[in-house]
Amino acid sequence: MILKIPLYILAQDNKLPKHQFMDNQTLKWMIKNKPKFNGGRKIKIDPLIIIKYLQRYSPQEKWFKDKILISSIHGQRHILRCIALAGILYNANLISGNINELCIVASLHDIRRKTDKEDNNHAKKAAIWVKKNNNLISEYFGYDISGRALENISTTILYHDKIKYLKTLNSSLSELIDNFKMIDALDRYRQPKIKWWLNEDYLKIKPDCFIKRIAFELVVRSEKYALIGFNNKKSVYKSIYDIL
Ligand SMILES: [Fe+2]
Ligand SMILES: [Fe+2]
Repeated sequence: MILKIPLYILAQDNKLPKHQFMDNQTLKWMIKNKPKFNGGRKIKIDPLIIIKYLQRYSPQEKWFKDKILISSIHGQRHILRCIALAGILYNANLISGNINELCIVASLHDIRRKTDKEDNNHAKKAAIWVKKNNNLISEYFGYDISGRALENISTTILYHDKIKYLKTLNSSLSELIDNFKMIDALDRYRQPKIKWWLNEDYLKIKPDCFIKRIAFELVVRSEKYALIGFNNKKSVYKSIYDIL
């Protein structure tokens, strides 16, 4: 029998494969290295509100550039957790701005990836894909993505993995970018190297301890459910009910 080498060991040895899938040992390693989340507020949010965002804004599986990535560490569970974090932050009044645009960015930002390793062009490819398919996306989500909304969504996707971006952006756009960068970074606890976890130095909006703890728990629980056989959506939905 060939023993599968856990992702966190492969990461230590710089031997991560092109496509990366969570495994039990990496999940155990993650739990063992849980950061201390001291303080933060306690905010009660109805899980059904968050499930509604997930149901409305989950991307269609056929929109993924490469089907193998649907269940990888940049796949559907990552995307659904980002939508959930957007909904939680918004309903906890920890962010403002347009929640629909934020959920759509979360839904589509990584769907044109070809690999879980550094995929330098994936942001640009996703932004172009959104511009080309805005009518289809609008119809599917029941939200008009044209004019300013299209510009905001595609530009945020374009800049989601860049450290620097233009200072001349309008204020609703820069708010969308900063909010999303925080959300994408909060889900980095799934990465198989601690050095790659959330680093607030790169963020203009610093996350509250409340949401950091939720983000960590969401990763752990949804990855655990996926490993015992639940599908991607069920894994995230169940973890929302557990945590909120
Ligand atoms: Fe990305
Ligand atoms: Fe992402």
